[in-house]
Amino acid sequence: MSSVQLQQRVLSGMRPTGKLHLGHYHGVLKNWVELQHDYDCFFFVADWHALTTHYENPFMIEQSVFDMVIDWLAAGVNPGSSTMFVQSMVPEHAELHLLLSMMTPLGWLERVPTYKDQQEKLKEKDLATYGFLGYPLLQSADILVYRAGLVPVGADQVAHVELTREVARRFNHLYGKDPGYEEQAEAAIKKMGKKSAKLYRSLLKRFQEQGDDEALATARALIIDQQNISLGDRERLLGFIEGGGKVILTEPQPLLTASSKMPGLDGQKMSKSYGNTIGLREAPDEVDQKIRKMQTDPQRVRLTDAGDPDKCPVWNLHEVYSDEGVKNWVRQGCQSAGIGCLECKKPLIEKVLEEQKPIHERARQYEENPELVTSIISEGSERARDAAKATLEEVRKVMGLSFGR
Ligand code: TRP
Ligand code: SF4
Repeated sequence: MSSVQLQQRVLSGMRPTGKLHLGHYHGVLKNWVELQHDYDCFFFVADWHALTTHYENPFMIEQSVFDMVIDWLAAGVNPGSSTMFVQSMVPEHAELHLLLSMMTPLGWLERVPTYKDQQEKLKEKDLATYGFLGYPLLQSADILVYRAGLVPVGADQVAHVELTREVARRFNHLYGKDPGYEEQAEAAIKKMGKKSAKLYRSLLKRFQEQGDDEALATARALIIDQQNISLGDRERLLGFIEGGGKVILTEPQPLLTASSKMPGLDGQKMSKSYGNTIGLREAPDEVDQKIRKMQTDPQRVRLTDAGDPDKCPVWNLHEVYSDEGVKNWVRQGCQSAGIGCLECKKPLIEKVLEEQKPIHERARQYEENPELVTSIISEGSERARDAAKATLEEVRKVMGLSFGR
């Protein structure tokens, strides 16, 4: 791990909509646990985002916040290595969201694919609200308020990170320039002397009109070489080439989590809405029951019938949990009717329980001491606030909102 990585900030959030399951563990949490060692990680519970779709039953959100934080801790997210907090405890997210809303074209939000998709999918809910339209902009504020460089998300969220980049670019373009910026830049160009000034202008043109990256690099080198311009002028000219001013808000990159195809009990993707989940902290005897009751290859009625693992959801889980030896044993035993289905499920049950053992152990201390969870969250929120406040101070300054401060 390099020091550059350690300085990079990673931010991600999850909506609190119920207890997490093994799909979340394999798809998201294991990744967070890895990232926390190499990056400055901020993980938060997006309770305001949950309200955009669940505004009619907010109390379910509150319980979910608590359960979700325990799930994170149980999975191994460590409050000593990462900052964990709750969105609504950091009001700076809301303030930045409001300020960004002033300069975000309506069309940008209407065009985000999730806007129409979710309205279609959740037909029973009235999502023609102001808050729901603003969902991705609130997400942009979540990211930009920490100047995060990397945002671990699934493919469905990439459009939101892309919007965030556009919003940041527009913000920097509008507010990253001091008054008189263009004139100052012109004056600085003149100070370089006739020959360099001419060269600089032609490189600038080549980059701005043709996107010529080599011209950009040469122009940069030219500016760095100048002896007779001040540091301020140098910075101004470097920024001027790219058409922006100062970078106030950082453009983040999505960190795509390899799409987890964690199968559920029925072979479809594990998801609460399919009712095919194994809970992250589900009791061992319930896990045992759930796997025992799993459907197998429907053609395999009797023990003497040969089966086809490719038509069996149990096999999908073996692919996640079992090593080559066990997988060979399953395929051969199934296709030759040499093993029974319950026999086939045994090593799988063991593996799942083995995976959950340390999860249960870590969870226990938090379940028994809920105040431990509350204090982790309030400390995390405090740390997050400090970072968010620093950004807001700069944002207010360039938006003419520093009166009396
Ligand atoms: N929209 C994200 C989801 O549904 C949750 C989220 C909210 C988020 N704010 C975020 C994710 C900021 C990453 C960064 O999964
Ligand atoms: Fe499925 Fe295993 Fe039974 Fe074959 S033996 S049908 S893979 S449970």
